[in-house]
Amino acid sequence: MSTLKTISDIENIKGKKVVVRADLNVPTEGTTITDNSRIERFAPTAKLLSDKGAKVIIITHFGRPKGKKSPEFSVAFMVESLSSAIGKPVKFIDDTIGEKVENAISSMNDGDIILLENVRFYAEEEANDSEFSKKLASLGDVYVNDAFSTSHRAHASTEGITKFLPSYAGLLMEEEIDALTKALENPAHPAIAIVGGSKVSTKLAVLENITKKVDALVIGGAMANTFLLAQGHNIGASMAEPDMTDTALKIIDEAKKNGCEIILPIDVCVAKEFKANAENKFVGIDEVDGDWKIFDVGPKTSKMLDEKFANAKTVLWNGPLGVFELVPFDRGTNELAKTVAKLTVEGKLTSVAGGGDTVSALNNAGVESDFSYISTAGGAFLEWLEGKELPAIPPLRK
Ligand code: 3PG
Repeated sequence: MSTLKTISDIENIKGKKVVVRADLNVPTEGTTITDNSRIERFAPTAKLLSDKGAKVIIITHFGRPKGKKSPEFSVAFMVESLSSAIGKPVKFIDDTIGEKVENAISSMNDGDIILLENVRFYAEEEANDSEFSKKLASLGDVYVNDAFSTSHRAHASTEGITKFLPSYAGLLMEEEIDALTKALENPAHPAIAIVGGSKVSTKLAVLENITKKVDALVIGGAMANTFLLAQGHNIGASMAEPDMTDTALKIIDEAKKNGCEIILPIDVCVAKEFKANAENKFVGIDEVDGDWKIFDVGPKTSKMLDEKFANAKTVLWNGPLGVFELVPFDRGTNELAKTVAKLTVEGKLTSVAGGGDTVSALNNAGVESDFSYISTAGGAFLEWLEGKELPAIPPLRK
């Protein structure tokens, strides 16, 4: 049972004007969409509303135009892709509020779908301005939020608007909250988290929160170097944060008190140059010296991880183990991704992953479709892992 008010709770939806907040902030090169996932994953919500006979008014942001109307941030280019993902025509209106939008809405038939211009063209959006929220709300009869990946932003179209319209969660919002709650708040045990990244300082809150929830935490990326340094290992010329070593030791200590095992590499792959196929070697963690730098975990670590994960029931993944963008330093991440994917496919565990780099890393390993759930969120996924209340979500709860 969902704790959210959902589309099925909207009474007499046929003919209603539904303002839907989507997050269609897709990665692009020029006007070419390089990853369509956010559009594809949102489409079922728009289709469902349209099939039920609602007039669907889609609002999204795209990039950070800083409150100015800037053509390079127009969302017009995504209409075709959105329309093909929904399987129905979508009409683009080149404003977000005002007469043009009101006229377009008044001529909509039941089931029609329109996409409004980038809501961040108005500075009032990010300021969560109450008058602007009211104007957005005046476009519809009800509000549906399907933008989990923007739910860490208390903006007019994500939070402010809920004060003026009955508010519901879309299908993707439901799915995200359900999957993340199961993985972090209510995991089947043993639960193991993998947190990678370059800096302890940026993931401190994640590490602190997560060690309270899971039975083991694998630390990866350059962050692991800071932990190894804290434990007295020589890390050569590897990237690390020497001023965070005390914090790292505190995290290990706290984790122990919470019954969470911290898992660090026992061997590593080192190189001198930051480039693909740079000269490299596998060494033990006490054998990194001179100008060698740690770029990945080693095969002994991979074997150890395989053994640790064999009995896991839940895996929560954020951040790669090594420099996965450069061959061969993607080996450790790929191996672990394949292990987790295999155990997932065999029905032995539930795997949930999120965060920009993580999804690219799983794509690189060719296993993203084998995971139980891949979040569409980057920043919002991280804030969820930190245990923060995401401001756009409470108004959607029952
Ligand atoms: C994201 O891509 O994480 C969301 O769309 C939020 O974008 P923002 O960081 O610009 O608010």
